[in-house]
Amino acid sequence: MANLEVEYCGVKFKNPIVTASGTFGFGYEYNEYVSLNEYGGFGAKGLTRQPRGGNKAPRIAETPSGILNSVGLQNPGVEVFADVIMPDLAEKFDTNVIANMSGNTIEEYAEMAEILSDTDVAVIEMNISCPNVKHGGLAFGTNAAVVEELTKEVKKKCKKPLVVKLSPNVTSVTDIAKAAEAGGADGVSLINTLLGMRIDINTRRPILANNTGGLSGPAVKPVAVRMVHEVYNAVKIPIIGMGGVMSGDDVIEFMIAGARLVALGTGMFVKPDLILDVKRDILAYMDRFGIEDINDIVGTLELN
Ligand SMILES: Cc1cc2nc3c(=O)[nH]c(=O)nc-3n(C[C@H](O)[C@H](O)[C@H](O)COP(=O)(O)O)c2cc1C
Repeated sequence: MANLEVEYCGVKFKNPIVTASGTFGFGYEYNEYVSLNEYGGFGAKGLTRQPRGGNKAPRIAETPSGILNSVGLQNPGVEVFADVIMPDLAEKFDTNVIANMSGNTIEEYAEMAEILSDTDVAVIEMNISCPNVKHGGLAFGTNAAVVEELTKEVKKKCKKPLVVKLSPNVTSVTDIAKAAEAGGADGVSLINTLLGMRIDINTRRPILANNTGGLSGPAVKPVAVRMVHEVYNAVKIPIIGMGGVMSGDDVIEFMIAGARLVALGTGMFVKPDLILDVKRDILAYMDRFGIEDINDIVGTLELN
């Protein structure tokens, strides 16, 4: 029997498939389509220190081979997750939960890491595509020195593996990945969405109420695969790859580029039970190439 089990930051995942934060709620909705136990783990909706209602609608706009979203981190707040949601998930399901957190300040991130460390989450993912409120609102994730300092401060309070989620909206993703590693991150995940805009030509106004939004879906996959490849060659910490996965072959592509875990995201909006096809396709690929252990394909890319 082919081995799909993967170890990531010292945590066992029964297979390398997880879900991308914000595309899967807290899992309950999708559990009606496929048991959460099918996944190696799942990424929960991005949490903030206080509850947030999110942005005004429209929050989603369709694009060729993708979507733009500006949900605005609607969530019940980290304390409700820690006190109510996570204990319930731990009781009902047998899969790893990856909490995802967003902060306005370094202190807020550190406080959330401390709260989440006392729960059953397997891994804490830190979304750094958030405005740094004390420093003019530029996203934390765009400045290597800030990323290193933020990671260092959060690590002091974090008792779980800390994964820094990288933004593609930067000049050099490898500089940011190296800064996260230097700050003590246990892993990195990439990519978050690419900043975009759509305009209604009749009203000459943006379609999204928030004017701009993040692009996800198959359109971003080549950018994501390229960045995973670059980051794999730049750091030693393990990678969660994501961006436009629609099939098992896409998962294999990310793993060859260097990802140890791969997340499904927007693809599940098209096919909520995508995980079942993905697992079947991965096993077929392994059978075709006589691969017994999925770990053997990670980072096996040979450049031309
Ligand atoms: C509707 C929506 C909400 C998202 N919310 C979050 C979030 O709360 N935190 C986060 O780190 N990423 C968030 N993301 C980004 C995804 O986790 C993922 O990085 C991105 O969508 C690329 O993967 P995909 O093309 O497979 O969807 C969101 C994406 C979408 C489409």
